[in-house]
Formats: sequence, structure tokens, C-alpha cells
Amino acid sequence: MTGNRRLFGLIGKPLEHSFSQRYFTEKFKSLGLGDHRYQLFELSSIGELEALIAEHPELAGLNVTLPYKKQVIDFLTDLSPEAQRIGAVNTIKFTPDNARVGYNTDYHGFYQSLKTWLGSSSPKKALVLGTGGASMAVTCALEDLSMDITSVSRKPSEEVITYRQLHEMDLRNFELIVNTTPLGMAPHITTLPDLRYEQIGVGHFLYDLVYNPQVTAFMEQGNQQGAQVKGGLEMLQLQAEKAWDIWNHINP
Ligand SMILES: NC(=O)c1ccc[n+]([C@@H]2O[C@H](COP(=O)([O-])OP(=O)(O)OC[C@H]3O[C@@H](n4cnc5c(N)ncnc54)[C@H](OP(=O)(O)O)[C@@H]3O)[C@@H](O)[C@H]2O)c1
Repeated sequence: MTGNRRLFGLIGKPLEHSFSQRYFTEKFKSLGLGDHRYQLFELSSIGELEALIAEHPELAGLNVTLPYKKQVIDFLTDLSPEAQRIGAVNTIKFTPDNARVGYNTDYHGFYQSLKTWLGSSSPKKALVLGTGGASMAVTCALEDLSMDITSVSRKPSEEVITYRQLHEMDLRNFELIVNTTPLGMAPHITTLPDLRYEQIGVGHFLYDLVYNPQVTAFMEQGNQQGAQVKGGLEMLQLQAEKAWDIWNHINP
């Protein structure tokens, strides 16, 4: 590391709007850390990561987004237990002894916000909509909260049910429903998961990972049916804070 200069950044492709860059740039400013920077590094392939690391000896941490959350693992020296279980990394810490450790802070963000939101309620059965990267962190957190999980996908496979199969079931069997699909995300704000919303009621908890808009069409439907609803903004902030903790502590 060069003096106190610390460089952080985000790798992915494409990188247009970045919550993380805005979040950390504001954080460094508010903490008076004029020697800290957060930069966007759009990589056309994950192989370019080695050159990026070589060019920036002051690199202290990276966030990782689509499409590299899995591919990046081959370039790391260690994985945290949750990243190992999930098989995906969204945060890397570079240490002075040249270790490159991968973490999954989506797991922590979701776990923490869900637990706080549920309070003393303890749903036993959860439905997870979508089987992409974020769903793996969600599933892992729900397992750690001892929930019985049913995953829903557009594509049939042994581990999941399809939306068609779900339509033949009663949603009252699932107290918690988590949307991990991008449905409802701006600019497609009128789209929402294909559920029989008339079966949703007062006993339901609907959690949407989508954070823009803050109230999605999925949440609106839940609201109308009397369910409790939560959007993804708090998870997003908590996962960023967890990354900051990791970058600042030896053993987070
Ligand atoms: N709040 C947070 O902190 C946070 C963190 C991570 C991600 N997110 C949000 O979570 C969402 C998913 O992220 P991701 O990284 O998991 O994305 P992803 O890897 O692209 O996966 C999304 C999954 O959603 C399903 N899906 C995609 N398009 C669909 C459609 N038109 N209809 C129904 N299902 C569809 C697919 O599952 P099937 O093929 O199995 O149907 C897909 O694998 C995004 O909106 C992202 O912004 C939020």
C-alpha cells in the first residue's frame, strides 16, 4: 500500500449506475478520508483482473457484480464460509500479505434486515422466487434461520418448482415470499412475479430484493392484501456497510 492511500472499486460488465460508487464516495467524504477513492472498473473478461491488481498496488477492496460473482473465485486465495457455501463473491479484501479473500455480503445484508424486520415472528416456510445469483445468498440465509425453502423458477428442474406448479398450490402454505427476480425494477416498474395474489393475506411477509423503486408492484399487491412488505434498499445499505467492515478489520 502507498502511504494511507486506499483504492476501492467495483468490477463488472456493464457498469452504468453504481449504488456502491455513490455510497462509498459519500462515506469517504463524510469521514474526511480524502486519500480514499472508489472507482468503477468495467472488465471485458475476468482475466483482466490480474492486470488491474498489478496496476493498482493501493487496491484495498473490490465489490463484484454481474457477470463475475462466480468467475472471480478462481482468482482468490481464500473464501469466507458463507461465500464458500453460496458459491459466489461480491466483495474482495486485499491484504498486505497478498491474500485475496472473497466474501458474500448480500448474505449478511439480507440476513440482518430480514431478522430485524421479522422481529418476534418466526415464519417456518419460505418461497424464493428466481434462481439467480442473489437467490443463493437468500437461500443460505433462510437455511440459517431454519426455514423450510421452496424455490420457484421459470425452468423446471429437480430442485425447484415452476410457476405453473406453484399455481396449483396454496400460497397460504408459505408465510414468507422473497422476490429475487428483477421483476418490478425500474424502468419496468409495472412487472411483478406471476403469483395468485388473491391468496396473499394478513399473515404473509413479502420481501422484495428490488430497491428501485422503493415500493414495487409486488409490494403494492401485498399491501392491498394486508400482508407486511419490505423492499431491498436496507439490504443494499447493509451489504455495503458489511463490505466496509470487512475492508477495515483483520478478521471481520
Ligand atoms: N437489495 C439488494 O441488496 C440486492 C442484492 C442483490 C440483488 N438485488 C436485486 O435482485 C434482483 C436479482 O439479482 P440477481 O443478481 O440474482 O440477478 P440474476 O442472476 O439475473 O437472477 C435473477 C433471476 O430471476 C429470474 N428472472 C429473471 N428474469 C425474469 C422474468 N422476466 N420473469 C421471471 N423470473 C425472472 C431468473 O430465475 P429463473 O430463470 O429461475 O426463473 C433469474 O435467474 C435484481 O433486481 C437485483 O437488483 C438486490
